Amino acid sequence: MNKVKTWAEYSEEEILKANIEKYDKEDIVKFYEDFEEPKYTYIEYSVIFDAVLNFLHNHLQNPVRAADMCGGAGKAAFVLKSCDPNCEVTLVDLADKMLDIARRRAEKEQVSCRILLKDAFSFLEDESEEFDLIVFSSALHHFKDPTALLAAAAKRLSPQGMIISIADPNTIIKSKRFRFLQFTAANSQHKKATIKNSFSRLFGSGSEAAAGEDFDVAEYQTYTGINDIHLRNGLEKAGLSALLHMRYPAGEPYMTKIMPWLGLYWAFSIVMCHKDKYPEYNNSSALLLNEIKKNLPYKIRVMP
Ligand SMILES: C[S@@+](CC[C@H](N)C(=O)[O-])C[C@H]1O[C@@H](n2cnc3c(N)ncnc32)[C@H](O)[C@@H]1O
Repeated sequence: MNKVKTWAEYSEEEILKANIEKYDKEDIVKFYEDFEEPKYTYIEYSVIFDAVLNFLHNHLQNPVRAADMCGGAGKAAFVLKSCDPNCEVTLVDLADKMLDIARRRAEKEQVSCRILLKDAFSFLEDESEEFDLIVFSSALHHFKDPTALLAAAAKRLSPQGMIISIADPNTIIKSKRFRFLQFTAANSQHKKATIKNSFSRLFGSGSEAAAGEDFDVAEYQTYTGINDIHLRNGLEKAGLSALLHMRYPAGEPYMTKIMPWLGLYWAFSIVMCHKDKYPEYNNSSALLLNEIKKNLPYKIRVMP
């Protein structure tokens, strides 16, 4: 019998190929096309970006040069521009159809933004590029080795620069509590799909990690989450240090009020800077945190 391949056995290149295929599909692209603001505005983006941009402005003379990595339809890029219209934003993604959504929006809203079709590692290899802010929004979970990606980003970061990871799931999403709440809040189509998947898991191969019919290499960590504590502990190796590591209850506004009561701080965000390169940031964590806490309408969990 053939041994079934697990996600751990896939290489970064194979995962990249799976992402290229996935984000070329019409239904996936349509999902992002329909996912327009203001219905789906996630307040944490503007709160965190505003706080970090204010910090950067205090330490930089020139406009902030920012990159929205794996930016897709440009969710983070457009929030950056609304927080700071002078920010010079580069949006990078491997999917031209996703970037097309951003191109149309930029034209419609008259927003200037450099838009590049490139995979993240190739883009970050270019030594002529330097950024003051690099954002990974809902992006790290598409990589087998997010630490290696952050290390590559650190090499493109100006001495005062910061990296923000936002909207990636942590391993709480595997908990029964989270799955129950997600199921309860889902529409009927989604409920049917969840029940079908549970049955095939029960009576099928039985292994979540095995590559079966519904196995999605590109999206695997969407369902397992990322161990954010492990990731944070690996930052030193990437030449970075965490100014702030928080977990929060992303989603529909009413859900973000309910989830903290159930301990479901399922998304994480880490604000990083160069380790040891810019001592002025040494005491800035508390200020950054206060600014963010003050402006968020829901509770967050600050990771020690
Ligand atoms: C979940 S979507 C997030 C899009 C956007 N950042 C957001 O927050 O809405 C993931 C995006 O990552 C892109 N992507 C996946 N792997 C990538 C890679 N290796 N390099 C560049 N983009 C990548 C996909 O094309 C897709 O647009």
